[in-house]
Amino acid sequence: MTFSRRDFIAAAVLGSASLRMQGQDRSQQPSTKPESGTGAGKRPIIICANNGYAYLDGAYVFLKNGGDTLDAALQVVKGPEDDPKDDTVGLGGLPNEEGVVELDACCMHGPTRRAGSVGGVRNIKNVSLVAKAVMEHTGHVMLVGEGAERFAVAMGFARENLLTEHSRKIWLLWKEYYSTKDWWGPGLADPHWQAPEKPQSELWRERFRRLQERAADLGIEPEFRRAAIRRVVFPPTGTIHCSALNQKGEISGCTTTSGLAFKLPGRVGDSPIVGAGCYTDQDVGSAGATGSGEENIKVAGAHTIVENMRHGLSPHDAGMDALKRIARNYNNDMNKLRFVDLTYYILRKDGTYAGVSLWQGYSVGNPHKIAVHDGTLRAEIASPLFSGYSQEFPPFPPIPEDLKKDSEYLR
Ligand code: GLY
Repeated sequence: MTFSRRDFIAAAVLGSASLRMQGQDRSQQPSTKPESGTGAGKRPIIICANNGYAYLDGAYVFLKNGGDTLDAALQVVKGPEDDPKDDTVGLGGLPNEEGVVELDACCMHGPTRRAGSVGGVRNIKNVSLVAKAVMEHTGHVMLVGEGAERFAVAMGFARENLLTEHSRKIWLLWKEYYSTKDWWGPGLADPHWQAPEKPQSELWRERFRRLQERAADLGIEPEFRRAAIRRVVFPPTGTIHCSALNQKGEISGCTTTSGLAFKLPGRVGDSPIVGAGCYTDQDVGSAGATGSGEENIKVAGAHTIVENMRHGLSPHDAGMDALKRIARNYNNDMNKLRFVDLTYYILRKDGTYAGVSLWQGYSVGNPHKIAVHDGTLRAEIASPLFSGYSQEFPPFPPIPEDLKKDSEYLR
Protein backbone atom coordinates (compact mmCIF):
# COMPACT_ATOMS: atom_id res chain seq x y z
CA MET A 1 0.00 0.00 0.00
CA THR A 2 1.39 3.41 -0.89
CA PHE A 3 0.28 6.83 0.26
CA SER A 4 1.80 10.27 0.12
CA ARG A 5 3.16 11.97 3.20
CA ARG A 6 0.43 14.60 2.93
CA ASP A 7 -2.25 11.93 2.73
CA PHE A 8 -0.76 10.24 5.69
CA ILE A 9 -0.66 13.36 7.81
CA ALA A 10 -4.23 14.16 6.82
CA ALA A 11 -5.37 10.69 7.68
CA ALA A 12 -3.47 10.86 10.89
CA VAL A 13 -5.13 14.00 12.17
CA LEU A 14 -8.63 12.66 12.68
CA GLY A 15 -7.62 9.25 13.80
CA SER A 16 -5.43 10.58 16.52
CA ALA A 17 -8.47 11.91 18.26
CA SER A 18 -9.93 8.63 19.06
CA LEU A 19 -6.86 6.95 20.51
CA ARG A 20 -6.38 9.22 23.45
CA MET A 21 -10.00 9.97 23.91
CA GLN A 22 -11.14 6.40 24.19
CA GLY A 23 -12.86 5.94 27.49
CA GLN A 24 -12.18 9.52 28.47
CA ASP A 25 -14.56 12.31 29.20
CA ARG A 26 -14.11 14.89 26.45
CA SER A 27 -16.68 17.33 27.76
CA GLN A 28 -15.59 20.84 28.53
CA GLN A 29 -15.40 20.62 32.27
CA PRO A 30 -13.68 23.65 33.76
CA SER A 31 -11.58 22.79 36.75
CA THR A 32 -13.29 23.81 39.96
CA LYS A 33 -10.19 23.36 42.06
CA PRO A 34 -9.55 26.73 43.70
CA GLU A 35 -5.73 26.59 43.74
CA SER A 36 -3.07 24.03 43.00
CA GLY A 37 -1.62 25.00 46.32
CA THR A 38 -0.80 27.95 48.43
CA GLY A 39 2.55 29.19 49.55
CA ALA A 40 1.14 32.35 51.09
CA GLY A 41 3.17 33.45 54.08
CA LYS A 42 5.86 30.85 53.36
CA ARG A 43 8.37 32.92 51.46
CA PRO A 44 10.71 32.30 49.81
CA ILE A 45 9.17 30.11 47.15
CA ILE A 46 10.22 28.85 43.74
CA ILE A 47 7.90 27.23 41.20
CA CYS A 48 8.88 25.69 37.88
CA ALA A 49 8.04 23.13 35.22
CA ASN A 50 8.64 19.61 36.47
CA ASN A 51 11.88 19.15 34.49
CA GLY A 52 13.42 21.65 36.93
CA TYR A 53 12.56 19.52 39.96
CA ALA A 54 16.11 18.21 40.49
CA TYR A 55 17.53 21.74 40.62
CA LEU A 56 15.10 23.30 43.08
CA ASP A 57 16.89 22.29 46.28
CA GLY A 58 20.08 24.16 45.42
CA ALA A 59 18.25 27.20 44.10
CA TYR A 60 16.07 27.35 47.19
CA VAL A 61 19.09 27.40 49.52
CA PHE A 62 20.64 30.12 47.34
CA LEU A 63 17.44 32.17 47.50
CA LYS A 64 16.97 31.67 51.24
CA ASN A 65 20.53 32.84 51.84
CA GLY A 66 19.81 36.16 50.16
CA GLY A 67 20.46 35.28 46.51
CA ASP A 68 18.76 37.36 43.86
CA THR A 69 15.36 36.06 42.66
CA LEU A 70 16.30 36.04 38.98
CA ASP A 71 19.62 34.32 39.69
CA ALA A 72 17.74 31.67 41.68
CA ALA A 73 15.33 31.07 38.79
CA LEU A 74 18.23 30.97 36.33
CA GLN A 75 20.02 28.44 38.52
CA VAL A 76 17.02 26.14 38.13
CA VAL A 77 16.66 26.42 34.35
CA LYS A 78 20.43 26.18 33.77
CA GLY A 79 20.21 22.60 35.04
CA PRO A 80 18.18 21.26 32.09
CA GLU A 81 20.08 23.57 29.71
CA ASP A 82 23.34 21.87 30.70
CA ASP A 83 21.88 18.37 30.75
CA PRO A 84 22.42 16.61 27.39
CA LYS A 85 19.76 14.07 28.36
CA ASP A 86 16.99 16.71 28.50
CA ASP A 87 16.18 16.99 24.80
CA THR A 88 13.77 19.91 25.18
CA VAL A 89 16.16 22.61 26.39
CA GLY A 90 19.73 23.81 25.77
CA LEU A 91 22.46 21.23 25.05
CA GLY A 92 20.90 18.19 23.36
CA GLY A 93 17.65 19.97 22.53
CA LEU A 94 15.81 18.48 19.56
CA PRO A 95 16.77 20.44 16.44
CA ASN A 96 14.88 22.20 13.68
CA GLU A 97 13.95 20.43 10.45
CA GLU A 98 17.50 20.95 9.14
CA GLY A 99 19.09 19.32 12.17
CA VAL A 100 20.25 22.57 13.77
CA VAL A 101 19.45 23.30 17.43
CA GLU A 102 17.93 26.78 17.83
CA LEU A 103 17.24 28.03 21.34
CA ASP A 104 14.94 30.72 22.78
CA ALA A 105 14.82 32.30 26.24
CA CYS A 106 13.70 35.34 28.16
CA CYS A 107 13.88 36.66 31.70
CA MET A 108 12.36 39.44 33.78
CA HIS A 109 13.88 40.91 36.93
CA GLY A 110 11.06 42.23 39.11
CA PRO A 111 13.03 44.43 41.51
CA THR A 112 14.63 46.49 38.72
CA ARG A 113 11.75 46.01 36.26
CA ARG A 114 14.06 44.92 33.46
CA ALA A 115 13.78 42.26 30.78
CA GLY A 116 16.07 40.42 28.39
CA SER A 117 15.40 37.96 25.60
CA VAL A 118 17.05 35.96 22.81
CA GLY A 119 15.46 33.98 19.97
CA GLY A 120 16.73 31.47 17.43
CA VAL A 121 20.21 31.23 18.96
CA ARG A 122 22.57 28.54 17.67
CA ASN A 123 25.69 27.06 19.27
CA ILE A 124 25.26 28.57 22.77
CA LYS A 125 23.65 26.33 25.36
CA ASN A 126 22.80 28.69 28.25
CA VAL A 127 20.50 31.06 26.41
CA SER A 128 18.71 31.99 29.64
CA LEU A 129 21.99 33.54 30.80
CA VAL A 130 22.44 35.22 27.42
CA ALA A 131 18.97 36.75 27.89
CA LYS A 132 20.14 38.06 31.25
CA ALA A 133 23.27 39.47 29.58
CA VAL A 134 21.09 41.27 27.02
CA MET A 135 19.16 42.73 29.95
CA GLU A 136 22.26 43.83 31.84
CA HIS A 137 24.71 44.77 29.12
CA THR A 138 22.65 46.32 26.32
CA GLY A 139 20.04 48.97 25.91
CA HIS A 140 17.87 46.44 24.10
CA VAL A 141 15.42 43.83 25.29
CA MET A 142 15.63 41.22 22.52
CA LEU A 143 18.36 39.91 20.22
CA VAL A 144 17.82 37.13 17.67
CA GLY A 145 19.73 34.75 15.45
CA GLU A 146 23.28 35.42 14.40
CA GLY A 147 23.42 38.77 16.18
CA ALA A 148 22.42 37.14 19.45
CA GLU A 149 25.05 34.44 18.98
CA ARG A 150 27.79 36.99 18.25
CA PHE A 151 26.71 39.01 21.27
CA ALA A 152 26.89 35.88 23.45
CA VAL A 153 30.41 35.09 22.23
CA ALA A 154 31.45 38.68 22.88
CA MET A 155 30.13 38.26 26.43
CA GLY A 156 32.31 35.20 26.93
CA PHE A 157 29.86 32.36 26.24
CA ALA A 158 31.46 29.36 24.55
CA ARG A 159 30.33 28.21 21.12
CA GLU A 160 29.67 24.48 21.03
CA ASN A 161 27.80 21.90 18.98
CA LEU A 162 24.44 21.51 20.73
CA LEU A 163 23.29 18.50 18.69
CA THR A 164 24.02 15.39 20.74
CA GLU A 165 24.14 11.94 19.17
CA HIS A 166 20.91 11.16 20.99
CA SER A 167 19.06 14.11 19.39
CA ARG A 168 20.75 13.66 16.00
CA LYS A 169 19.42 10.10 15.75
CA ILE A 170 15.88 11.13 16.68
CA TRP A 171 16.04 13.94 14.11
CA LEU A 172 17.27 11.49 11.46
CA LEU A 173 14.47 9.09 12.36
CA TRP A 174 11.97 11.93 11.96
CA LYS A 175 13.55 13.22 8.76
CA GLU A 176 13.73 9.86 7.09
CA TYR A 177 10.20 9.11 8.06
CA TYR A 178 8.44 12.36 7.24
CA SER A 179 10.66 14.28 4.81
CA THR A 180 11.28 17.96 5.44
CA LYS A 181 7.88 19.45 4.74
CA ASP A 182 5.65 18.77 7.70
CA TRP A 183 5.35 22.30 8.97
CA TRP A 184 4.66 23.88 5.60
CA GLY A 185 1.17 24.71 4.50
CA PRO A 186 -1.86 26.10 6.37
CA GLY A 187 -1.97 25.14 10.02
CA LEU A 188 -4.64 24.44 12.56
CA ALA A 189 -5.59 28.12 12.77
CA ASP A 190 -6.47 28.34 9.08
CA PRO A 191 -10.23 28.89 8.73
CA HIS A 192 -10.34 26.25 5.99
CA TRP A 193 -8.58 23.58 8.02
CA GLN A 194 -10.66 20.45 8.27
CA ALA A 195 -10.35 17.27 10.21
CA PRO A 196 -9.45 14.63 7.64
CA GLU A 197 -11.07 11.35 6.76
CA LYS A 198 -10.92 8.42 9.10
CA PRO A 199 -7.62 6.64 8.59
CA GLN A 200 -7.17 3.03 7.70
CA SER A 201 -5.81 1.03 10.55
CA GLU A 202 -3.38 -0.65 8.21
CA LEU A 203 -1.36 2.57 8.34
CA TRP A 204 -0.39 1.85 11.91
CA ARG A 205 1.03 -1.53 11.18
CA GLU A 206 3.16 -0.13 8.38
CA ARG A 207 4.17 2.87 10.39
CA PHE A 208 5.39 1.05 13.47
CA ARG A 209 7.23 -1.50 11.41
CA ARG A 210 9.11 1.19 9.52
CA LEU A 211 9.85 3.29 12.57
CA GLN A 212 11.13 0.31 14.51
CA GLU A 213 13.30 -0.79 11.62
CA ARG A 214 14.75 2.63 11.03
CA ALA A 215 15.38 3.22 14.75
CA ALA A 216 17.35 -0.02 14.84
CA ASP A 217 19.24 0.86 11.65
CA LEU A 218 20.17 4.23 13.12
CA GLY A 219 21.64 2.58 16.17
CA ILE A 220 19.10 3.97 18.61
CA GLU A 221 19.46 1.84 21.73
CA PRO A 222 16.61 -0.68 22.17
CA GLU A 223 15.68 0.74 25.57
CA PHE A 224 15.27 4.22 24.09
CA ARG A 225 13.43 3.28 20.89
CA ARG A 226 9.99 3.74 22.40
CA ALA A 227 10.78 7.29 23.51
CA ALA A 228 12.46 8.12 20.18
CA ILE A 229 9.44 6.96 18.18
CA ARG A 230 7.15 8.93 20.45
CA ARG A 231 9.12 12.11 19.73
CA VAL A 232 8.86 11.47 15.99
CA VAL A 233 5.10 10.88 16.22
CA PHE A 234 4.57 13.80 18.63
CA PRO A 235 7.22 16.48 18.12
CA PRO A 236 7.46 17.96 21.63
CA THR A 237 7.51 21.61 22.69
CA GLY A 238 9.31 20.93 25.94
CA THR A 239 10.43 24.00 27.79
CA ILE A 240 11.19 25.09 31.32
CA HIS A 241 9.80 28.11 33.12
CA CYS A 242 10.78 29.18 36.65
CA SER A 243 9.55 31.99 38.92
CA ALA A 244 11.10 32.86 42.29
CA LEU A 245 9.95 35.03 45.20
CA ASN A 246 12.13 35.94 48.20
CA GLN A 247 11.50 37.03 51.80
CA LYS A 248 11.58 40.69 50.75
CA GLY A 249 8.75 40.14 48.30
CA GLU A 250 11.01 40.48 45.27
CA ILE A 251 9.97 38.34 42.34
CA SER A 252 11.51 37.32 38.99
CA GLY A 253 10.96 34.77 36.23
CA CYS A 254 12.60 33.16 33.23
CA THR A 255 11.78 30.65 30.47
CA THR A 256 14.10 28.72 28.17
CA THR A 257 13.57 26.15 25.41
CA SER A 258 14.81 24.46 22.29
CA GLY A 259 11.30 25.09 20.99
CA LEU A 260 9.14 22.88 18.87
CA ALA A 261 11.08 19.85 17.66
CA PHE A 262 11.73 19.77 13.87
CA LYS A 263 10.35 23.30 13.43
CA LEU A 264 11.07 25.46 10.41
CA PRO A 265 14.44 27.18 10.78
CA GLY A 266 13.85 30.60 12.26
CA ARG A 267 10.62 29.63 13.98
CA VAL A 268 10.41 31.32 17.34
CA GLY A 269 7.79 30.23 19.85
CA ASP A 270 6.40 31.88 22.94
CA SER A 271 9.35 31.28 25.27
CA PRO A 272 11.44 34.33 24.34
CA ILE A 273 8.41 36.59 23.94
CA VAL A 274 8.12 38.82 26.99
CA GLY A 275 4.44 38.68 27.89
CA ALA A 276 3.84 35.26 26.32
CA GLY A 277 6.38 32.69 27.59
CA CYS A 278 7.16 34.73 30.70
CA TYR A 279 6.00 37.90 32.39
CA THR A 280 6.87 39.35 35.78
CA ASP A 281 5.55 42.49 37.42
CA GLN A 282 7.08 43.33 40.79
CA ASP A 283 3.74 44.80 41.92
CA VAL A 284 1.72 41.68 41.10
CA GLY A 285 3.53 38.42 40.41
CA SER A 286 5.06 36.24 37.73
CA ALA A 287 3.84 33.69 35.21
CA GLY A 288 5.29 31.47 32.51
CA ALA A 289 4.28 28.79 30.06
CA THR A 290 5.23 25.50 28.47
CA GLY A 291 3.43 23.89 25.56
CA SER A 292 1.95 25.09 22.27
CA GLY A 293 3.88 28.29 21.73
CA GLU A 294 1.90 29.59 18.78
CA GLU A 295 -1.33 29.46 20.79
CA ASN A 296 0.23 31.12 23.80
CA ILE A 297 1.60 34.01 21.74
CA LYS A 298 -1.91 34.75 20.45
CA VAL A 299 -3.28 35.28 23.96
CA ALA A 300 -0.12 36.92 25.37
CA GLY A 301 -0.56 34.28 28.04
CA ALA A 302 1.86 35.26 30.81
CA HIS A 303 0.96 38.95 30.57
CA THR A 304 -2.75 38.15 30.50
CA ILE A 305 -2.37 36.11 33.68
CA VAL A 306 -0.42 38.77 35.54
CA GLU A 307 -2.95 41.41 34.48
CA ASN A 308 -5.79 39.17 35.65
CA MET A 309 -4.11 38.89 39.05
CA ARG A 310 -3.60 42.64 39.14
CA HIS A 311 -7.36 42.96 38.78
CA GLY A 312 -8.03 40.61 41.66
CA LEU A 313 -8.20 37.11 40.19
CA SER A 314 -6.51 34.29 42.07
CA PRO A 315 -3.54 32.62 40.32
CA HIS A 316 -5.74 29.66 39.45
CA ASP A 317 -8.57 31.76 38.00
CA ALA A 318 -6.13 34.07 36.22
CA GLY A 319 -4.59 31.05 34.47
CA MET A 320 -7.92 29.47 33.65
CA ASP A 321 -9.00 32.68 31.97
CA ALA A 322 -5.93 32.59 29.71
CA LEU A 323 -6.66 28.95 28.84
CA LYS A 324 -10.26 29.84 28.02
CA ARG A 325 -9.01 32.55 25.67
CA ILE A 326 -7.04 29.88 23.82
CA ALA A 327 -10.19 27.75 23.62
CA ARG A 328 -12.14 30.82 22.45
CA ASN A 329 -9.66 31.36 19.63
CA TYR A 330 -10.93 28.06 18.24
CA ASN A 331 -14.57 28.74 19.13
CA ASN A 332 -14.22 25.94 21.69
CA ASP A 333 -13.94 23.48 18.82
CA MET A 334 -12.68 20.28 20.41
CA ASN A 335 -11.70 18.91 17.00
CA LYS A 336 -8.97 21.55 17.03
CA LEU A 337 -8.26 22.02 20.72
CA ARG A 338 -7.37 18.38 21.10
CA PHE A 339 -4.18 19.21 19.16
CA VAL A 340 -3.21 22.04 21.53
CA ASP A 341 -1.82 21.95 25.06
CA LEU A 342 -0.44 24.53 27.45
CA THR A 343 0.64 24.58 31.07
CA TYR A 344 0.94 27.84 33.01
CA TYR A 345 3.07 28.29 36.14
CA ILE A 346 1.77 31.18 38.20
CA LEU A 347 3.20 32.84 41.32
CA ARG A 348 1.57 35.80 43.01
CA LYS A 349 3.57 38.30 45.03
CA ASP A 350 1.97 37.04 48.27
CA GLY A 351 3.35 33.55 47.63
CA THR A 352 0.10 32.02 46.40
CA TYR A 353 0.68 29.93 43.29
CA ALA A 354 -1.07 27.69 40.78
CA GLY A 355 -0.28 25.33 37.93
CA VAL A 356 -3.02 25.10 35.30
CA SER A 357 -3.15 23.27 31.99
CA LEU A 358 -5.47 23.01 29.02
CA TRP A 359 -5.60 19.20 29.27
CA GLN A 360 -4.73 16.77 32.04
CA GLY A 361 -1.55 15.71 30.25
CA TYR A 362 -0.15 14.55 26.95
CA SER A 363 -0.91 10.91 27.69
CA VAL A 364 -2.68 8.80 30.28
CA GLY A 365 -0.54 8.35 33.37
CA ASN A 366 1.56 11.44 32.63
CA PRO A 367 -0.30 14.42 34.09
CA HIS A 368 1.07 17.93 33.69
CA LYS A 369 2.93 18.90 36.85
CA ILE A 370 4.32 21.94 38.56
CA ALA A 371 7.39 21.63 40.82
CA VAL A 372 7.40 23.74 43.97
CA HIS A 373 9.90 24.55 46.72
CA ASP A 374 8.84 26.69 49.67
CA GLY A 375 10.92 24.83 52.22
CA THR A 376 9.32 21.59 51.08
CA LEU A 377 10.18 20.22 47.66
CA ARG A 378 7.29 18.63 45.82
CA ALA A 379 5.60 18.12 42.46
CA GLU A 380 1.90 18.86 42.16
CA ILE A 381 -0.54 17.98 39.41
CA ALA A 382 -1.70 21.00 37.43
CA SER A 383 -5.43 21.79 37.36
CA PRO A 384 -6.75 21.08 33.86
CA LEU A 385 -9.37 23.16 32.07
CA PHE A 386 -10.55 20.11 30.12
CA SER A 387 -10.81 16.50 31.17
CA GLY A 388 -8.78 14.20 28.94
CA TYR A 389 -5.45 14.15 27.19
CA SER A 390 -4.19 16.22 24.30
CA GLN A 391 -2.24 15.21 21.28
CA GLU A 392 0.66 17.08 19.89
CA PHE A 393 0.75 17.98 16.25
CA PRO A 394 1.09 16.21 13.86
CA PRO A 395 -1.11 13.57 15.42
CA PHE A 396 -1.70 10.01 14.40
CA PRO A 397 -4.36 7.43 13.54
CA PRO A 398 -5.79 5.06 16.15
CA ILE A 399 -3.97 1.88 16.98
CA PRO A 400 -5.82 -1.25 15.88
CA GLU A 401 -6.77 -3.70 18.59
CA ASP A 402 -4.35 -6.31 17.30
CA LEU A 403 -1.43 -3.91 17.70
CA LYS A 404 -1.89 -3.25 21.42
CA LYS A 405 1.66 -4.36 22.06
CA ASP A 406 2.98 -1.65 19.77
CA SER A 407 0.78 0.98 21.38
CA GLU A 408 3.20 0.81 24.29
CA TYR A 409 5.43 2.98 22.14
CA LEU A 410 3.14 5.90 22.77
CA ARG A 411 3.08 5.83 26.55
N1 GLY B 1 6.56 26.62 24.32
C1 GLY B 1 7.71 26.38 23.59
C2 GLY B 1 7.57 26.58 22.16
O1 GLY B 1 6.48 26.48 21.62
O2 GLY B 1 8.57 26.87 21.52
